[in-house]
Amino acid sequence: MTNSELIKQKLLGFEYPAFSFKPINDKVIQSIEEVTDKIKIKLKFGFPLGSYQAQFEQDLLVWLNSELADQSCVLEISHKITAHSHPAKVKAMPQVKNIIAVASGKGGVGKSTTSVNLALALQSLGAKVGVLDADIYGPSMPIMLGAEDKHPESSDKKSIFPVTAHGIQSMSIGYLVKPEQAMVWRGPMASGALQQLINDTQWDDLDYLIIDLPPGTGDIQLTMAQKIPVTAALVVTTPQDIALADARKAVTMFNKVSVPVLGVVENMAMHTCSSCGHEEHIFGAGGGEKLAEEIGVELLGSLPLMLSIREDVDSGKPSLVNDSESKISSKYKRIALKLAAKLSLQEEEFRADFPTITIENS
Ligand SMILES: Nc1ncnc2c1ncn2[C@@H]1O[C@H](COP(=O)(O)OP(=O)(O)OP(=O)(O)O)[C@@H](O)[C@H]1O
Ligand SMILES: [Mg+2]
Repeated sequence: MTNSELIKQKLLGFEYPAFSFKPINDKVIQSIEEVTDKIKIKLKFGFPLGSYQAQFEQDLLVWLNSELADQSCVLEISHKITAHSHPAKVKAMPQVKNIIAVASGKGGVGKSTTSVNLALALQSLGAKVGVLDADIYGPSMPIMLGAEDKHPESSDKKSIFPVTAHGIQSMSIGYLVKPEQAMVWRGPMASGALQQLINDTQWDDLDYLIIDLPPGTGDIQLTMAQKIPVTAALVVTTPQDIALADARKAVTMFNKVSVPVLGVVENMAMHTCSSCGHEEHIFGAGGGEKLAEEIGVELLGSLPLMLSIREDVDSGKPSLVNDSESKISSKYKRIALKLAAKLSLQEEEFRADFPTITIENS
């Protein structure tokens, strides 16, 4: 085995506590070169590491030094977010690389709050992110993004541009009609409206589009999972038994349509006191872990029930905007990092750039 092969084997075995899997695979390793007295290692990840990169580099170097006793290494780390394949029998959305559907079996578990904070967390890592509020009857994104007075613009009266707030591109029926109006729509009208939001929004070059699905696991959600080129899903749940049973249904629904579930996020898992910071497991600890184990889906993280999370979204400044360095923001960022990292391991989509062939008569 040559020295670079040996180093490659070492790199492939590197375990990192921030991930539940080995972060370096064959695709990540770009080159291993021996340059004079140093080994130059180039790594390219399929997701942005953001502010975690410096620590990651440092930890990897320390580990390499201990593994390769007398050789010193230099690292060059970059990333490129690619489009991943989706099982739906529809065309990929042109300006969107990856669509992540966020679902919950039960309403009110904090799906929209989690969606918007994770979108902002992904952005803070260095990705271009959009949010589609697919809840036609109860849109929440305009308020949560502090953009309820904004309206999408259109250049041709056929398509609309998303509303940008806090750097996130967003689309919601709430930007187009008054809440009372959407509330009385019958099924077909609502699904027609949603279809239009999906087809007619001109997203601007997104790495990730987060879709905040309406609560439940009925026909609407199932149809959406088939009509939208969803790359992967995330399930939000609370620790009560009933919510866990519903989350299980959501996972089963995605399994039916072959959309991979990247993981479960347990929301309101424990209560964090806003005066003293004390944490209490009101509904019992470990529910999310149990669920994750039972259905073979990873628990990406647990978020506390915390007054500031509600106050922040209600005021249009989600926790990530209000204070991106707070303890709660770093919890969202860690979940976002895991989510993006897991997604990068999915099968990549084949989007061939065919050459333009011109035939000229001479
Ligand atoms: N971790 C949390 N701590 C405190 N409050 C929270 C937390 N998560 C969500 N909330 C609050 O709980 C309420 C419901 O949250 P949210 O609207 O995000 O839930 P949802 O699952 O999207 O609901 P729906 O089923 O109506 O779409 C909101 O008032 C929100 O501010
Ligand atoms: Mg919601």
